[in-house]
Amino acid sequence: MPKNTQKSPLRTKISANMYANEATTLQRLIEEAGLSQETRQRISADAATLVRGIRESSDPGMMEVFLAEYGLSTDEGIALMCLAEALLRVPDAETIDALIEDKIAQSDWASHLGESTSPLVNASTWALMLTGKVLDEPAPGIIGSLRSAVKRLGEPVIRTAVGRAMKEMGRQFVLGETIVGAMERAAKMEAKGYTYSYDMLGEAARTEGDAKRYHLAYSRAITAIAQACTHAEIRENPGISVKLSALHPRYEEAQRSRVMDELAPRLRSLALLAKSAGMGLNVDAEEADRLAISMDVIEEVLSEPALAGWDGFGVVVQAYGQRAGDAIELLNALATRLDRRIMVRLVKGAYWDTEVKRAQVEGVEGFPVFTAKPATDVSYIANAKKLLGMTGRIYPQFATHNAHTVAAVLDMAREMGVSNDAYEFQRLHGMGEALHDIVLKDRGSHCRIYAPVGAHRDLLAYLVRRLLENGANSSFVNQIVDEDVPAEEVAACPFDALADAQPNITQAPDLFAPERANSKGFDITHEPTLARIEKARKAFAAHVWDAAPLIAGKAKPAKAHVVLNPANPADTVGKVAFASAADVDTALTAAAPWDATPETRAKVLNKAADLYEKHFGELFAQLAREAGKIMLDQVGELREAVDFLRYYAANAPHETPVGTFTCISPWNFPLAIFTGQVSAALAAGNAVLAKPAEQTSLIAYRAVQLLHEAGVPTSALQLLPGAGDVGAALTSDPRVGGVAFTGSTETALLIRKSMANNLAPGAPLIAETGG
Ligand code: FAD
Ligand code: 2OP
Repeated sequence: MPKNTQKSPLRTKISANMYANEATTLQRLIEEAGLSQETRQRISADAATLVRGIRESSDPGMMEVFLAEYGLSTDEGIALMCLAEALLRVPDAETIDALIEDKIAQSDWASHLGESTSPLVNASTWALMLTGKVLDEPAPGIIGSLRSAVKRLGEPVIRTAVGRAMKEMGRQFVLGETIVGAMERAAKMEAKGYTYSYDMLGEAARTEGDAKRYHLAYSRAITAIAQACTHAEIRENPGISVKLSALHPRYEEAQRSRVMDELAPRLRSLALLAKSAGMGLNVDAEEADRLAISMDVIEEVLSEPALAGWDGFGVVVQAYGQRAGDAIELLNALATRLDRRIMVRLVKGAYWDTEVKRAQVEGVEGFPVFTAKPATDVSYIANAKKLLGMTGRIYPQFATHNAHTVAAVLDMAREMGVSNDAYEFQRLHGMGEALHDIVLKDRGSHCRIYAPVGAHRDLLAYLVRRLLENGANSSFVNQIVDEDVPAEEVAACPFDALADAQPNITQAPDLFAPERANSKGFDITHEPTLARIEKARKAFAAHVWDAAPLIAGKAKPAKAHVVLNPANPADTVGKVAFASAADVDTALTAAAPWDATPETRAKVLNKAADLYEKHFGELFAQLAREAGKIMLDQVGELREAVDFLRYYAANAPHETPVGTFTCISPWNFPLAIFTGQVSAALAAGNAVLAKPAEQTSLIAYRAVQLLHEAGVPTSALQLLPGAGDVGAALTSDPRVGGVAFTGSTETALLIRKSMANNLAPGAPLIAETGG
C-alpha cells in the first residue's frame, strides 16, 4: 500500500483470508470454474491426447526419469535429495566425504535394479555419474560395488564424481552461469519459436550486501537482455523475473516501513530499466506470509507515473494459495485504476512443503495453501478462467507442465473466444519440454521458458524446490514418465478426483493429540492477528504492576524496588518488594505438598494454561516492558510456557514427589523457564518455592497469580522474589527436598555445594546451565 493511504477492501481481504476455510474457498472456485460434465470430459480427452503425444514425441529427459525412479517416496531418493541439498553448502572435503559415505553407502540401491523404465536410469547410471565410468562387473556386482565404492575408489574420486553429478543436476535446471552464456544457450529454443524470461538465481538476501549484489545482478542482466529486445511488442521479447526477497534482507511484514522505503525504490529502478529496454519484468511469488506486503510494494511501484504506457510489469499468482482469486482481482482493479496493462503469470506454487510446515510450526489453525493436490488443480483452472476474462487489462501467462491444466486453458480460451495472441504458456527450463513443443507447434500457442541463470552458490534453494517438485509422486512430471500408468489416468479430471482427496494433513492445534492440546499460535505476519495482539496489549501499555512475596502466611512489609523497562528507562513498569529472610522462613514452614489426585493436578495445570492464553495481552505487554522481548519472542515465550503446563499435566502427575522443591529461574525466559520448572514440580505433587530472576519478578508474580487462580493451593506454590540471598536461603535449608535451577555454571556449583552441606543426602539438583 502506498504510504499514508487507506488500504483498499481488496487489500484488506488479502490479509484477512490467509487462513481461510479450505472447503469453503474450494466450493466457491468450483462454482467460478462452472465447467459442465461434458466440458470436463472433453478437456480430459484432449489432455490424454497430449499425454500420448508427449510419450511418443520424445524420450523424457534423463533427470525426469531419474527422479521418477528415485522419487521422494524411496529411501534412496531421499538420500540423494539430501546429498544434493547438503553438498551445495558443505564447505570442506572432509565433511563432504563423511556425507557421501553416510548417504550413499546406507541405502538399498539393489531394489532399484531394473525398476526404471529407462535403461539410462538404473544403478549403473548412478555409478556412472558417481565414478565417471561403468564398472565392468555383472549387474548385481555393480550394486555391490556402489555400496563399497566409497572405500574402493577412494574418497577424492567419489567426491569429484558426486560434485559432477550435482553439477549435472544443476545444469538440468539452470540455463547458464552467466547471462551472456545463458542467452547463447537460449538461441536454439528461440529458433523454434520460444521466448525466454531469465531469472538471476538468488533470493532471501541475508545482508544488505547480498541485496545489493542481487540488485546489481538484476540491473546488469536487464542491460544484457536489452540487446535481444528487438521486437516492438514486449511479449515477443525476452524478459526477466525477479524475487523481492533478493532485494532486501528484511522483506517481512514486521519491517513494513523499511520495505516500502528501501525495497520499493529498488524494484522501481529495475522496472524503469526494463521499460526503457522494452521488456517484461516479472515479480515472482514467494512465501504466503509475504503476499500482502508484496501487493503493497507492487502497488507502490506500479503507481510510478514514469511507468505509464509500459505493458511489461508482471506479477505471479499462486493457485495453491487460497487467496489467488483475491490477488487477481486486486491486480485487475489496480491496472484499471492506474490505466495500465499488466502481465499475470499463474503458477500452482513452489513452496507447498514450506507453507504446510510453517503453519504447523506457527501453531495456527488452517493453512494458507490447499492441502489436496486436485484442489490446487481446480483452483488453477478457476483462476485461469478469471484471467481469461480480464484480457482487457491483463496478459495471462499460464505456467504449468501439466497436460490436463494446459488442455483446460486451451479449452476455456477457445470457448471464451480469447485468441492465442492474448495469452501465453510458460514452462521452467529443464521441465515440460515435450508438452510445450506440442502446444507451440500443433496448437499455435505462445510459449516462454523461465530460465534460471547463475552460479553454483546461489542455486541451492531453487534446486531443492525443483527436486521436491520432480520427486513428489503427486506431480505430473513424475507420473508421465511411468508408462504403466495409462494416459487417461495421468490426464484424469481433478474435479472428479476431489471427492477422493480427503486432506489428511494434521493441523497445528492437533499436532499433539490425543495427549494434549497444542499451544495457540499467533502468526505475526497476519494483519488481523497483529491487530488483535495490539488491541490486547494496549490496555497494559502504561500499566504499573506491583509484586511482592506470595506466601502462605504473612509477608513482612518491605521497601519496593522500582522496575524500569530495559529498552526505555523512561517507562516505569512496576514495583517489587523482595522477600526477607523471615518471609523465606515463613514459606518454608508453610510449604505443603500438593495433596490432590493426579487427575486434579493435571486439570488445574491445564486450566492454568488456558488462563495464560486468555491473558496473552497482559503477558505480552509484561514480556515487552519488563524483559525487553520483541513480539516474535513474546509469542514464543507464552507458547513455550503453555506447552510446559500441558506437557507436565499429561506426563508428570504419576511421578513420585520429593517434598518441597526450590525453583530458581533466569531472566532470559522469564515466563517459559519459570513455568517449566514450577509446573514439572507441581505436577508430581511437590510443594514449590519459586524464586524468579530479580530482573523479571513482575512476570513471575503474574504467573503465580494465574496458577493460584487455576486452583494450585497457596501452600503448594509460593513466590519469593529476591536477589542471590533469597536463592541462597532457599537452597541451604534442610526442609528443601530438591532444587531446579537454570542459570550460570558458577551459581550451579555453589548451589551444589550448599545442598551437599545442608540438604538430605541424595536431594536432586536439576541444573540447566550456561556460561
Ligand atoms: P503439477 O504436477 O500439476 O502440480 C504440482 C503442484 O501442485 C505443486 O508444485 C504444488 O503447487 C501443488 N501441490 C502438490 N501437492 C499438493 C497438495 N497435497 N495439496 C495442494 N497442492 C499441492 N512458483 C512460485 O511459487 N512462484 C513463482 O514465481 C513461480 N514462477 C514460475 C514460473 C514458471 C514459468 C513456471 C513454469 C513455474 C513457476 N513456479 C513458480 C513454479 C511452479 O509453482 C511449479 O512449477 C508448479 O507448481 C508445478 O505445477 P504443474 O502444473 O507444472 O505441475
Ligand atoms: C521458483 O523459484 C520458479 O519461481 C519459481 O521456484
